[in-house]
Amino acid sequence: MFSPRLVLLLAGLSAAAQQAPFSSQSSSEWTVFHHPIKSVAVIGAGPAGLQAAAKLVEHNFTVRLFDRAPAPGGNWFYTDETPVREPYPDKPFDEKPYIPEHLPATHYYEEGDEEISLEDRWKEHWQPRPLWDSLHTNSPAVITELPDVPYSADSPWVISNHDIQRHVRAYASFHNLNSNDYQIDSRRSPVTSYSTRVDKLEKIEETQTWRLTLRRLERLPETNRIKAQWWTEDFDAVVIATGPYVSPHVPDIKGLVAWSKVKDAGRYSVYHSQSYRRPERYQNKTILIVGSSVSASEIARDIAPYARNVIASIRPKPNPHPFQLRSFLRFPDVTEFVPEIDHFETLAAHDKGIKDGGIHLKNGTVLKGIDEIILATGYIHSNIFLPNFTADGQPANLHWTGHYIPDPTLAYTNVRPWTIGRYQSYAFAKVWEGTARLPAQKQMKQDYDNGKYHFRGLFASAPAEALFRQYVAWLNNESLINGGRFVEPWPLEKREVFVYYSDVEWIKGYVKLTNFTDFETLPSREWESGKAAWEAIVYEDLEW
Ligand SMILES: Cc1cc2nc3c(=O)[nH]c(=O)nc-3n(C[C@H](O)[C@H](O)[C@H](O)COP(=O)(O)OP(=O)(O)OC[C@H]3O[C@@H](n4cnc5c(N)ncnc54)[C@H](O)[C@@H]3O)c2cc1C
Ligand SMILES: NC(=O)c1ccc[n+]([C@@H]2O[C@H](COP(=O)([O-])OP(=O)(O)OC[C@H]3O[C@@H](n4cnc5c(N)ncnc54)[C@H](OP(=O)(O)O)[C@@H]3O)[C@@H](O)[C@H]2O)c1
Ligand SMILES: *[C@@H]1O[C@H](CO)[C@@H](O)[C@H](O)[C@H]1NC(C)=O
Ligand SMILES: *[C@@H]1O[C@H](CO)[C@@H](O)[C@H](O)[C@H]1NC(C)=O
Ligand SMILES: *[C@@H]1O[C@H](CO)[C@@H](O)[C@H](O)[C@H]1NC(C)=O
Ligand SMILES: *[C@@H]1O[C@H](CO)[C@@H](O)[C@H](O)[C@H]1NC(C)=O
Ligand SMILES: *[C@@H]1O[C@H](CO)[C@@H](O)[C@H](O)[C@H]1NC(C)=O
Ligand SMILES: *[C@@H]1O[C@H](CO)[C@@H](O)[C@H](O)[C@H]1NC(C)=O
Repeated sequence: MFSPRLVLLLAGLSAAAQQAPFSSQSSSEWTVFHHPIKSVAVIGAGPAGLQAAAKLVEHNFTVRLFDRAPAPGGNWFYTDETPVREPYPDKPFDEKPYIPEHLPATHYYEEGDEEISLEDRWKEHWQPRPLWDSLHTNSPAVITELPDVPYSADSPWVISNHDIQRHVRAYASFHNLNSNDYQIDSRRSPVTSYSTRVDKLEKIEETQTWRLTLRRLERLPETNRIKAQWWTEDFDAVVIATGPYVSPHVPDIKGLVAWSKVKDAGRYSVYHSQSYRRPERYQNKTILIVGSSVSASEIARDIAPYARNVIASIRPKPNPHPFQLRSFLRFPDVTEFVPEIDHFETLAAHDKGIKDGGIHLKNGTVLKGIDEIILATGYIHSNIFLPNFTADGQPANLHWTGHYIPDPTLAYTNVRPWTIGRYQSYAFAKVWEGTARLPAQKQMKQDYDNGKYHFRGLFASAPAEALFRQYVAWLNNESLINGGRFVEPWPLEKREVFVYYSDVEWIKGYVKLTNFTDFETLPSREWESGKAAWEAIVYEDLEW
């Protein structure tokens, strides 16, 4: 008798012989790949991509991990360097990067080539992260932790971005994925390629493989140049772990594009929160912050001890997200809240700041005397690989396992990496090695149409939590049938720790000794219509 794994492999081989495209193999109950998956590219070395790469290496795939940044850490790779200035207005999602006609190619850039400074060329390539020096997590440590490298037992409730960076880099080092690990362990061929941006991803029809077009930049300080190299590499499968926050979003407000050109003493007067770093220089300034979410409240707190006035332009929120609830509570007492901005007046000059310009609010009042405006208006969830997104910022056509339904040799890290990420990474390896079966395309589509893709955090809602349990059951069932180790479901006691956090951060005074003993039967508190307290107070979502 054949083992199911062997049946799967044989099915894959016969499909390969027929050269049938994946989509036509609908006869099977399960997904059958065109040929065995041996090599996998992982794009992004943040908490999600590092875990995916580590698992795939452990399962003996030939893995390459690419990140545009010079080191691992993803969003948590803090530097004082700030990103290149954001475009006003937002630029189209699908703008393609320049790729030379003949590859491989090498080019040396000098200062000012194409009117771009070397500094900006470097920063445009790797995109310094939108973090500031004092930033701490808005998620408790218990749900912001990678496996294998635990925080110490007495580590704080919430963690500074610098500690998260060390934590993520420790995970990378532990798995031999840090930026110079291959030099240390020279017996292995390099898994990682940092400072390497994936500029194009395409499917090669004849071989049914993925081709990545890569660009690596290297600074050559001795000759004051930048060396750029382009080349391609082909893979059987690809994990896209490029993160939820791809580029900054600037609001579409009349007059903003003109104001965005204004400088005062050589510095832009209007800028996105992505380039905020430290509060000291805000001494005696009047600052207008646009937005009411986490960046807005936290930057307001940071600058309040220095600034003369902190004003926040917010719009009404009937059903605030838990982060926004927290942010409303955390804006410093000195904050003056004003309504949403309607438009900016035309300015006489572009080099004398914005102090004399009128800012017309939606209620008719005109604000004047503002020194600087910080746009804490969030991020665009898009990337150059798959510009099709659903309304809630998720890539379209993704199965709940993260596989791209039209072609499951492509997968996205579409869950919160700190918690579900470890299960998803393991599942990617199992599906591609043939020890976990993925439903056939028709079933995956059905799952998707039934809303089964709403599976991003452990506790986003009761259905998401049930789905997560089904996911673990599926994973373990597959191991039982096809081989592999078992995984523990997420420990419930961690959920309880999360409730304490929620009590402090979102719904103050919720947890009381008098009713804490009767935990499971707490009455519903409708922070958002139709959702029970139990869900609200342990809310976790991908867009954290
Ligand atoms: C200001 C801010 C604060 C945050 N605070 C918290 C918090 O307190 N708690 C929390 O849980 N989450 C927080 N987050 C969310 C954060 O996104 C996650 O914590 C986590 O970093 C997501 O991991 P990831 O691996 O999916 O993506 P990321 O960490 O974003 O990593 C993606 C990686 O992909 C790389 N990449 C992207 N495109 C390419 C390309 N074309 N080629 C090569 N490489 C590419 C990037 O360089 C990056 O290193 C915050 C986000 C922001 C913006
Ligand atoms: N750990 C930390 O301390 C920390 C710090 C910063 C960010 N983060 C995380 O990073 C992610 C992004 O957070 P974020 O705060 O940068 O972005 P965000 O949560 O997307 O919030 C954007 C804010 O901008 C507002 N906005 C957009 N256009 C506006 C306009 N024209 N006028 C007024 N307001 C406008 C939005 O209002 P509407 O809601 O009405 O659209 C919202 O309040 C989140 O996951 C957050 O948790 C964490
Ligand atoms: C990977 O290969 C090694 C060496 O052949 C083997 O011992 C190990 O079991 C393999 N790992 C998995 C998960 O198959
Ligand atoms: C603060 O700013 C006000 C108004 O711009 C100015 O008159 C005053 O001199 C400043 N004070 C200090 C200490 O810089
Ligand atoms: C409009 O908002 C401003 C700032 O909050 C406030 O001072 C003013 O009274 C409001 N005007 C009206 C007409 O409500
Ligand atoms: C994106 O959407 C367009 C138009 O809806 C469609 O033609 C295209 O195939 C989609 N691309 C992907 C990768 O899903
Ligand atoms: C386990 O696999 C068997 C065989 O495919 C299937 O009948 C059963 O429903 C699966 N159970 C779970 C929990 O996925
Ligand atoms: C917990 O008990 C307090 C009084 O001890 C009460 O006011 C509060 O409503 C209770 N909370 C819940 C969720 O039942």
